Amino acid sequence: MDQLLPPEIAEAERAFPEALAACRDLDAFLRLKGAYVGREGSYVARLMDLLKAAPKDQKRELGAAINALKNAWEEALKARQAELEAAKKAAGAAAWDPTLPPPLPARGALHPLNRLMDRLVEVFRPLGFHVEEGPEVETEEHNFDGLNIPADHPARGSADTFYLAAHPGQLLRTHTSPVQVRTLRKLKATIHEKGGIRFLAPGRVYRKDEIDPTHSPMFHQVEGMLVGHGIGMQHLKGTLEYALRALFGPATEIRLRPSYFPFVEPGCEVDVSCPLCAAKGCRVCKGSGWVEILGAGLIHPNVLEFAGIDSKEWSGWAFGMGVERMAMMLSQTPDLRLFFENDQRFLEAMGGLD
Ligand code: DAH
Repeated sequence: MDQLLPPEIAEAERAFPEALAACRDLDAFLRLKGAYVGREGSYVARLMDLLKAAPKDQKRELGAAINALKNAWEEALKARQAELEAAKKAAGAAAWDPTLPPPLPARGALHPLNRLMDRLVEVFRPLGFHVEEGPEVETEEHNFDGLNIPADHPARGSADTFYLAAHPGQLLRTHTSPVQVRTLRKLKATIHEKGGIRFLAPGRVYRKDEIDPTHSPMFHQVEGMLVGHGIGMQHLKGTLEYALRALFGPATEIRLRPSYFPFVEPGCEVDVSCPLCAAKGCRVCKGSGWVEILGAGLIHPNVLEFAGIDSKEWSGWAFGMGVERMAMMLSQTPDLRLFFENDQRFLEAMGGLD
């Protein structure tokens, strides 16, 4: 039968067993397999072309010869493949060193904004501040009225505030200040026994802002409040100096600029000396050496009275700061949106659990 096949095929057939034994790995094996039985250009493929072109009376015999050869090659290839795969598996097992530490699963971490809020809470905790919370769906009464914000204040408009269409008088809180109203009302019962009230309120707030590198319709604030006897601006300034130095470094200076918020009188905005350039002037502080960090002031007597606390006996201070702003500054992140996209690469660059 062999004399039916062209000499080059006979030669390939002779060389096959040795070539197969010489395949030491799966790559070499696959190359050989392709050359003998592959779909295109292989010996088998060439034999098929030959069969197609053969005279009719030879087709039967030639076909049988080709089939026999093909089957023999395929069987031998299959056996060799099984050998090579077994050898590869055995080599892998031998390379396993049971004394090496196991690979650790990727570890999750708190979000950088939560870590920053936790840090603030830890800075204030030794001063006797605890954490208070309020709902994100608030009433107009807590978010505005109880804070002495007049009925015609622009922040109350539906252009700035998300109102709940199906629930009149309810909205997504626009700041953490309504937690002041709730907490004053709750803790006034023990105000004499405790000698005052002090707390921090971190949380999410919502405003109708277009999304851009410095705005988001959802962001975070931390509210702080202290009520006591004879509290004045000096206590606010001293406390903020302590806290902001703990946060930004001992060389940090602060300055208070007069400002207006309906729930404080007097009110101020507080700047810190730029922690990135040591107040020399850089991109973050826009060359001024100062960065605005929070709003604050002495609690307006109306806010205390609305909560049922005697403003002749008690006074206090309050502040509210933007968390994203501070996080962007500390990490030199140019775009606020990075904090909400949760791209693993960004979160990892911001550091894991510390
Ligand atoms: N609630 C203010 C805002 O969202 C920030 C603020 C200013 C809070 C002064 C305060 C304060 O407690 O005393 O812009």
